[in-house]
Order: sequence, then C-alpha cells, then structure tokens
Amino acid sequence: MRVAHTIAELSDMRDELTATQPRPTVSFVPTMGALHAGHCALIGIARNVADVVVVSIFVNPLQFGPDEDYARYPRALEHDLGVCEAQGVDIAFVPSVSELYPSGRHVSVSAGPIGTVLEGRARPSHFDGMLTVVTKLFNIVRPDKAIFGQKDAQQLAAIRRLVADLNFDIDIVAGPIAREDDGLALSSRNHYLLPPQRKTALLISAALRAAARHDDAPSALQAARSVLGLAERDETFGLDYLSLVNPQTFAELPEDHQGEALLVIAANVGDARLVDNVELVLGHSVADPEATLDLDRDDVEVC
Ligand code: PAJ
Repeated sequence: MRVAHTIAELSDMRDELTATQPRPTVSFVPTMGALHAGHCALIGIARNVADVVVVSIFVNPLQFGPDEDYARYPRALEHDLGVCEAQGVDIAFVPSVSELYPSGRHVSVSAGPIGTVLEGRARPSHFDGMLTVVTKLFNIVRPDKAIFGQKDAQQLAAIRRLVADLNFDIDIVAGPIAREDDGLALSSRNHYLLPPQRKTALLISAALRAAARHDDAPSALQAARSVLGLAERDETFGLDYLSLVNPQTFAELPEDHQGEALLVIAANVGDARLVDNVELVLGHSVADPEATLDLDRDDVEVC
C-alpha cells in the first residue's frame, strides 16, 4: 500500500497505478479515520467495484462547529494505516490541514435546502463544510465510484445532490449500516460513550427496530417514541429528533404518507452525538423487520 501526504504524491501514485491497465477504474472511500468495521465494509465494496482503491483519512475542520468535537475527535493514524493495508487499499491519502486548506479564505460549496434541516439545523454549516471537502477530494482523487455509508443518510443524500447538481461524473455507491451485535450503529464517536451511556444509546437502534415492525407512519412513530421514552431515566441522553422524512430531500413526511420513507433519529448521549436511521415502506406489511433494519451482519467485514 502506498501512503500519500500531498496532492502531488497522490496524483503521481494514482497515475502510476492506473497506467498498468487499459481502462482502469478507481473507487474512493473518504473517511475521517478511527476506522471501524463500518469503514471496512465500505472498503470491501470499493474493492469489488473497481481496480484501484483509494481511502482518504482527514478530519475536516470545516465541517465542525466552533463548540463541536474537532479537537478531540479520535485520531488513530497508525491503526488506520494498518487497517487499510489489511483491507487491500492501494493508496491511503492522509493530507494535512494546510495541504487541503493552504489559505485561510476559501470558496465553499453550499448544500442548499437539505443542509438546513435535521442534522443541518442542529449543525449549521456542517453540510457546507462536508460537501466542500468532498468536492476537493473528488477533484484530487478523480474516482469513478465513491462509496458512502447509509448510516449518515442525510450526508449521503447531500452527496447525491452534489454529484447531480454540479455534474460530477462519479457513481455514488451506498453501503449498508454496520452494527454491533446488539444493534448499536458503529461510529467513531462511540468511543466517547461511558458504559452506562452505551446501554442507553442502544435504545436508538431498538426504537428503529420497533418502528420497522409497523407499516403505517403513526404506529411506527408511536413505537419508536415509546422505546425512546425509556431513555428519560438517563439524564445524559437528549433526543434531538425522531423524524419521518423523504429519503432524497429529507423533507418531513405527513403521517398519512404511503411508500418509501426514512425514519431518522439523532440524540446526544453524554459527549457523543449519534445518528441512526431505518428505511420503511409504508402501506406495505413488513415481513421481516430485522431485514428492514439491515441487521444482516454477514455484510460486515470485521477489521
Ligand atoms: P466518517 O464519519 O469517518 O465516515 C466515513 C464513511 O463511513 C461515511 O460514508 C460514513 O457514512 C461511513 N460510516 C460510518 N459509520 C458507518 C456504519 N456504522 N455503517 C456504514 N457506514 C458507516 O462521514 C465522514 O467521515 C465525513 O463526513 C467525510 C464524508 C469523510 C467528509 O469529511
């Protein structure tokens, strides 16, 4: 595996690796590091869909608010490079902040309406900062395909809009949510949870699972609310939203909605902001709620 610290190094390595094949394809997995099995599953998809796999590891200051966890976000470069190597990554791109943002002033990308609701309302400018770095990384890495996790569903929807609205010639591929055996969605921010908080955090996926047993919006929302109600005993748990949204626009859906919908939850648990979601098809009976919640752990590669 090659490790690039600068844009020039990345470009040379990419050219070198793609020169050996007639029409080579490049897949790209952008990350902020502290890699876990969710990231590994995305790398596994990247390997299956292209010849050359590039992973970036960059904690992007632009997508953190002033009171957020940029400074203490987990950084584990040695571990991450070991994981990338073991997962068959061809190039790990590990730029410094000054390499990606050499001057203080910058042009940025605006996420538009999707950047103002739910996560966007709780974290103003988060999606603009995220899309700005993803745009830069797309232009630097020049991938054919880029892989993103369904766990951060609003991020994925914003990236799909970026690619459509700004005419990037890149296929966006979604990877399923990787979970712990007990249902907790894997997240680098799970590191912040103390043991009792981790227990309370389990109510998030339990609420989604309870909702997925219903095929009408009011019952699904009610089921989720009653599970989340159990978290009231833990004063370190603060529900930010439980919302039924259009999976593409993230606009809130009416309670009589029929068809595809996404049930999204965000909660602050101790020092961790956690997000999770489940896809619902309303108006159709749910045969297997476990399958709907994507708990098929065979999909997840352990790293
Ligand atoms: P990060 O949080 O490191 O996540 C990198 C990728 O891993 C994202 O596509 C995210 O959705 C995915 N991911 C995280 N946890 C997952 C899980 N449990 N199951 C499946 N996929 C999961 O998201 C970011 O970094 C940044 O915003 C980034 C896109 C790199 C831009 O800075």
